[in-house]
Amino acid sequence: LGSIRCYCLKALTIASERQQHRVQHGPCSYTFILPEVEHCRPLKDIQVTNTLQSDSPPEPESDTSQTKQSKSQKERPSWQERKLQSLESAMENNTQWLQKLENFIQENVRSGMEEIKRTAVHTQTAAMLEMGTNLLSQSAEQTRKLTDVETQVLNQTSRLEIQLLEYSLFTNRLEKHILLQTQEISRLSDKNSFLEQRLLALEGRYGRELKGLQSEKQQLQELLERQSQLVSQLQSELGSSSLNSTLMQRQQAMLTDTVQQLLAKASHCNEISNMPEEEPLSFKDCAEILRSGVKESGIYSIRLHNSTQTVKVFCDMKTRGGGWTVIQHRRNGSVDFHRGWRDYKMGFGEPSGEHWLGNDIIHKLTSSQDYSLHVQLRDREGNEAYSHYDHFYIDGEDNNYSLHADSFSGTAGRTSSLSHTGCQFSTKDRDNDRCTCKCAQLASGGWWFEACGPSNLNGIYYPASSSVVRYNSIKWYYWKGPNLITTMTTMMVRPANF
Ligand SMILES: *[C@@H]1O[C@H](CO)[C@@H](O)[C@H](O)[C@H]1NC(C)=O
Ligand SMILES: *[C@@H]1O[C@H](CO)[C@@H](O)[C@H](O)[C@H]1NC(C)=O
Ligand SMILES: *[C@@H]1O[C@H](CO)[C@@H](O)[C@H](O)[C@H]1NC(C)=O
Ligand SMILES: *[C@@H]1O[C@H](CO)[C@@H](O)[C@H](O)[C@H]1NC(C)=O
Ligand SMILES: *[C@@H]1O[C@H](CO)[C@@H](O)[C@H](O)[C@H]1NC(C)=O
Ligand SMILES: *[C@@H]1O[C@H](CO)[C@@H](O)[C@H](O)[C@H]1NC(C)=O
Repeated sequence: LGSIRCYCLKALTIASERQQHRVQHGPCSYTFILPEVEHCRPLKDIQVTNTLQSDSPPEPESDTSQTKQSKSQKERPSWQERKLQSLESAMENNTQWLQKLENFIQENVRSGMEEIKRTAVHTQTAAMLEMGTNLLSQSAEQTRKLTDVETQVLNQTSRLEIQLLEYSLFTNRLEKHILLQTQEISRLSDKNSFLEQRLLALEGRYGRELKGLQSEKQQLQELLERQSQLVSQLQSELGSSSLNSTLMQRQQAMLTDTVQQLLAKASHCNEISNMPEEEPLSFKDCAEILRSGVKESGIYSIRLHNSTQTVKVFCDMKTRGGGWTVIQHRRNGSVDFHRGWRDYKMGFGEPSGEHWLGNDIIHKLTSSQDYSLHVQLRDREGNEAYSHYDHFYIDGEDNNYSLHADSFSGTAGRTSSLSHTGCQFSTKDRDNDRCTCKCAQLASGGWWFEACGPSNLNGIYYPASSSVVRYNSIKWYYWKGPNLITTMTTMMVRPANF
């Protein structure tokens, strides 16, 4: 091979333009310069370049001889021909060899190229495989996502379809409903038209009746006008008559005026006639005052019999004809009646209110002439009752004001609640009763106690609200028993022959 190489190099150095092939094999590198096909063809021709001839190393002698032969060709053409033939075969050999070489080289090159190609393909395929796997995984993911989306879309569509179905059902039902409604409406409109016809008929009838009524109304109005005219006439007549009545009223007023003037004059005359009498008059009791013409209850002065002493007393001019001189009166408990002998002797309180006239005065009054006693009572319910004694008087102090009362009558009990005749007067400081006890202290006040007795109008005045029974309260036993709670007591005297 080394020789071949060297030969080739020498043979082909000039052909620089020709194709070069470099092959690396281990430490050796091979450079091949391949002959052109154009230059190869003319090999069969006789014309061969001098350089080639001169450069052929294996046979330098023949080579030189060849040149010599070419010079001597003219002389010996056969030799030259032989020489040419040999050269030609050599050339052929060379070309064959070269072809073989070329084939070899080409094979080598092809195998190397294939190897290179294979390695490159390997690496490339690996990369491609990687990429492929990546792509595959990506695509798988994408497909998965796509399937998800698809399922979702399917789900949505299915739901929408379901809703659509429901809606269609609903609309169907609505349509049915609407159909029913329209049928109903048509029926109603039929009815309505029927009713309208009836209404029209009724309207016609009522219009006729209305006309009749209107004519009646006009007649009535005419009547009314006539009536109102009559009424106005009557009113005018009434006005004139009322004028007449006012005239009469005025006349009446004038008459009453004159009457009053006359009365005033008459009373004045009376006063004039009374006045001189009143001054010297001294009444001995209320009966005399009443007889003198005074009819009003109130406080008056009396002069006791055979005495210059005047006493203010309350005169009751209303009860049973009036003329009563009040000797005891209680009404609201404002005066204390639980007093001693002297107070009862002299009297206490005011004639206008609660009052005890005084035992001395009562004695003087009732002993001067025959008197009757009237006891007037009122309980807390407002019931009134009385006890009446036709004859009543009390003794003087020397007889301890002994009581004398008889001829009992009245509504405050069928039996007299006063003590018997001769019963002496007792106070808390003068005990003249027939009890071993002291009735005036037990029962309180001053009274004609017997064995304390069934009565004591000078006991403690308990208010009407009190409901407890007390031994020391005001008592008039035969009217209400021990339960009497009075709101008023009055003892009064009047001449028995009044
Ligand atoms: C050509 O090659 C053959 C065999 O390869 C050989 O026998 C022959 O001598 C060669 N001819 C020349 C002229 O070299
Ligand atoms: C649709 O999706 C809902 C939840 O989003 C699920 O409850 C339902 O079962 C799904 N329906 C179908 C038909 O897949
Ligand atoms: C009113 O009185 C006059 C006389 O004063 C009398 O002519 C007339 O009729 C009276 N009228 C009535 C309505 O009484
Ligand atoms: C009162 O007057 C009468 C006569 O009218 C007389 O008999 C009597 O004694 C007199 N009494 C006293 C207390 O003066
Ligand atoms: C009792 O009556 C008298 C006379 O009307 C009056 O002045 C007095 O205020 C009365 N007292 C009570 C406690 O009502
Ligand atoms: C009057 O009462 C006193 C005691 O209070 C007595 O001493 C006197 O005897 C009594 N008089 C008569 C007449 O009973």
